[in-house]
Amino acid sequence: MADKQSKQTPPRKSRYTADHGMAGAFEGETVTRRRFMTGGALAAGGIASAAFALPALGFALAPMFKDATPDRWQDVGPESDFNPTTYVPRVVNTDPGVGEAGKATIYVRKFDPESDKPSPSDQGKDPIPYVVVSTRCAHLGCPVRYYQAPKRFVCPCHGGIYDFQGKVAGGPPVRPLDRFDARASNGRVEVGERFSVNSELRRFSPRDPSNHLDGLWQYLYPSRPST
Ligand code: FES
Repeated sequence: MADKQSKQTPPRKSRYTADHGMAGAFEGETVTRRRFMTGGALAAGGIASAAFALPALGFALAPMFKDATPDRWQDVGPESDFNPTTYVPRVVNTDPGVGEAGKATIYVRKFDPESDKPSPSDQGKDPIPYVVVSTRCAHLGCPVRYYQAPKRFVCPCHGGIYDFQGKVAGGPPVRPLDRFDARASNGRVEVGERFSVNSELRRFSPRDPSNHLDGLWQYLYPSRPST
């Protein structure tokens, strides 16, 4: 009978380490110090890894949630000023917060459906009606200049060369020249926000010069708020 009762209610295991005969156990301990230190070290390692990984992840993913609609449009002249065969220089303010110092030269021409390949980012929508190219070299940021005869942008600093689309044709630049949004409104051409492009002219949020954008590089060079 006694045997039967002990089978029905097995004795409860002690939660104290000393009762299990563990080496170095102290009376009243429920966790050995070794296990406590191991757990503490693992938790500290996890917190340190998260402190590095989470900001990087945030920078990499934030541009995906950013509204791509430009909030500021600047008039650069009547539509009749621009054609698809040559670029026309214009000055816009790319950073109104710094006044005159934010002024920069851009190059504007009309989009040519015959020769301009639409950006993969424009699939299913109308392409941007004007090609507006930044003069900031994608190598280290020197101002590039457009030459109509060879239809090339040339950077005087280290010999960077870009073709008529603004794609790299030679020298050290790592990606095409940045572009700007553009639209026609009431017969005028208006320029919006700057964006960066990769070698296929796929659109990205603005990046610093020297930041690659093809393949996995796009994640290693996330956009910065002040770029
Ligand atoms: S800054 Fe333009 S090639 Fe170096």
